[in-house]
Amino acid sequence: AEYELGEHPDFMYKEMREQPDAVDRCLRGRLDHRFSSARLDGVGLSPQDYQRIRRVKLLGCGSAYYAGQLGAQLVEELARIPADAEPASEFRYRNPVVDPDTLYVAISQSGETLDTLAAVQELKRKGGHVIGVVNAVGSTIARECGHGIFLHAGPEVSVAATKSFTTMAVALAMLALDLGRVRDLSITEGRRLVTGLSELPHQIAQVLASEDDIAAVARKYADARHMFFVGRVRGWPAAREGAQKLKEISYVHAEAYQASELKHGPLALINPEMPTVVLVPDDELLAKNTATIEEIKARGGPVIAVTDAELPPGLATDVIRVPKAHDALAPITLSVPLQLFAYHLARALGRDVDRPRNLAKSVTVE
Ligand code: G6P
Repeated sequence: AEYELGEHPDFMYKEMREQPDAVDRCLRGRLDHRFSSARLDGVGLSPQDYQRIRRVKLLGCGSAYYAGQLGAQLVEELARIPADAEPASEFRYRNPVVDPDTLYVAISQSGETLDTLAAVQELKRKGGHVIGVVNAVGSTIARECGHGIFLHAGPEVSVAATKSFTTMAVALAMLALDLGRVRDLSITEGRRLVTGLSELPHQIAQVLASEDDIAAVARKYADARHMFFVGRVRGWPAAREGAQKLKEISYVHAEAYQASELKHGPLALINPEMPTVVLVPDDELLAKNTATIEEIKARGGPVIAVTDAELPPGLATDVIRVPKAHDALAPITLSVPLQLFAYHLARALGRDVDRPRNLAKSVTVE
């Protein structure tokens, strides 16, 4: 039944709707209420091993890379370990320095992406310690890594990643929490995170319940030929993933930019024909993001704000509101409306969302 559409128009739609259940399965049995942490037995590392980690490097392709970028932010924020993400293909071809105190994390839905697999093999050859964050049990990358976290998202058929992206982010948040709790993340902070994670399925369901409003906004912008997606810090990986979703299924040119970098070039492109989706997490950078919206509006650019904050009325042209999650987890809830936005915009243009031209679900060639 998992490969059947049932009453759904296509797999992307079905898989978006499955996200509350997928996230719930990803979390199941892994939240440790006693120690306010996560229980990730498959990772195969002891607290002592965790303490020796000096860096975390996350590798993947496409949406898995953007999920990795989100994961890197979570690791730095919760565990205060320097972390960054890189496309697996770049990593494998640039003769990377492989460091024994770095934890490498290979992220892949299919577990078969050639570039990610080759990065894992290169790492192992050079003595790197690599774990997998993989959906497909028994896949090549999962077997090659030997240890890691399975997403339990269920099969994903649509070329555009949806439930795999959200569950990757959730799995990486648990890893960050677990790493944090053997370092200096307090039990109270850990508890807030555990609560925040357990609230995600319901919050994602609430976002899905507001689909009609999101679809109306998407249809309103279906004539746009280009769009910007901007965010800063927590909003940035979500902006990249949102732009990617829109390009791959609607063929509308979408470009993601750091909000702070707009004034160093892209602002020149803002006009009434160039809508900008602005990610506005309700965090300490809220005022900065409001200023970004004002900058764009002052140049005549329509703004679609995607936010968990209460914005002053009239600030943005359109607002897509999501429930307030734990600050560190907001990028996850903010990503879901971007999927629905891309989906409904693509449908308004008559695109075949499950079979975008020139793309494959998993890229097992060079
Ligand atoms: C392809 C798909 C993307 C996916 C990427 C990585 O490009 O079209 O949706 O994000 O591969 O796939 P993986 O299976 O390794 O997560």
